[in-house]
Amino acid sequence: MKTLSNPIYPVIWQDNHVVLIDQTRLPGEHSTVNINRSQDMAEAITTMIVRGAPAIGVAAGYGMYLGAREIDTRNREEFLTQLDAIAKMLGETRPTAVNLFWAISRMLKTAQESTGTVAEIKATLLETAKAIQQEDLNTCQAIGDHGLSVLPDKPQSTILTHCNAGSLATAGYGTALGVVRSAWREEKLQRVYADETRPRLQGAKLTAWECVQEGIPVTVITDSMSAHCMREGKIDLVVVGADRIAANGDTANKIGTYSLAIIAQAHNVPFYVAAPFSTIDFALSDGSQIPIEERNVTEIRQIGKTSLCPDGAEFYNPAFDVTPADLIAGIITEKGVIKPHLLANSK
Ligand code: MRU
Repeated sequence: MKTLSNPIYPVIWQDNHVVLIDQTRLPGEHSTVNINRSQDMAEAITTMIVRGAPAIGVAAGYGMYLGAREIDTRNREEFLTQLDAIAKMLGETRPTAVNLFWAISRMLKTAQESTGTVAEIKATLLETAKAIQQEDLNTCQAIGDHGLSVLPDKPQSTILTHCNAGSLATAGYGTALGVVRSAWREEKLQRVYADETRPRLQGAKLTAWECVQEGIPVTVITDSMSAHCMREGKIDLVVVGADRIAANGDTANKIGTYSLAIIAQAHNVPFYVAAPFSTIDFALSDGSQIPIEERNVTEIRQIGKTSLCPDGAEFYNPAFDVTPADLIAGIITEKGVIKPHLLANSK
């Protein structure tokens, strides 16, 4: 068994403020940003300084506490009204990852159900934000370990993943990369293939960075190479994260995930989703109801300041797509691996 030696925590509560790893600067620069105000947390989520569904949830939890701290009243009703406005502001940052709304609702409910003074409610909110973070870390470790059961019956496997569903996208350890980490720890992993993940390149920049930090062998491929790699027999299974899973198992994840699932099916390569229960939106019966974020076309049109395309071309930039449940072999959760069509029973 190997020892995992390089924990990465994208969100840290320290000296009465939040410290975020600035994920827009990786892998070239490993720098952090201090967040003292809820408005700054909202901006950090919008601009993807912090990103990845569970990490957004953790950040939003602290954002709610920072907002609560800013409210200058001892009147409980007035406090709750102002907290609602902060919840609304944070809820408008990104539409697809349900963990954002899940964490905001949990913080609001905690405040509404607290019977103490405003000062006591604020203290409870900080404890709740810390609990959301710790629970996500524990959850990811459980997801990683449950993922060992889907590895093929061979000494070492190769896993292809898309986008970044690692420590950086969670409280730590990761969901899809949690499975990778556990497999590496158990010496059951030969190599990770990381789709570069156009247009923001989370695979090339973030997944590859995390793997290199941990000493896990990683090969970056362009998104268009997965079919070729599968035909060559390079990929044993695909494991991706999720931004929102509907009650029937349809799964929204980074754009390109759906085509990867179709390619995996065509090559008889099992395709798994790894995600915590906080990513399941039981209120939505199927994936057609999941809101899909559209991002600025500059993400496609240019690299840095250099334009790639002729003037006059138009662009379409949906950040996520929905993979139908019937393409998913199983959803690896903290409670075990669940067949998508049985998800509703496991609520
Ligand atoms: O736009 P991003 O970088 O926030 O998208 C992230 C993803 O799509 C991840 O794969 C998903 O959130 C799962 S993270 C454990």
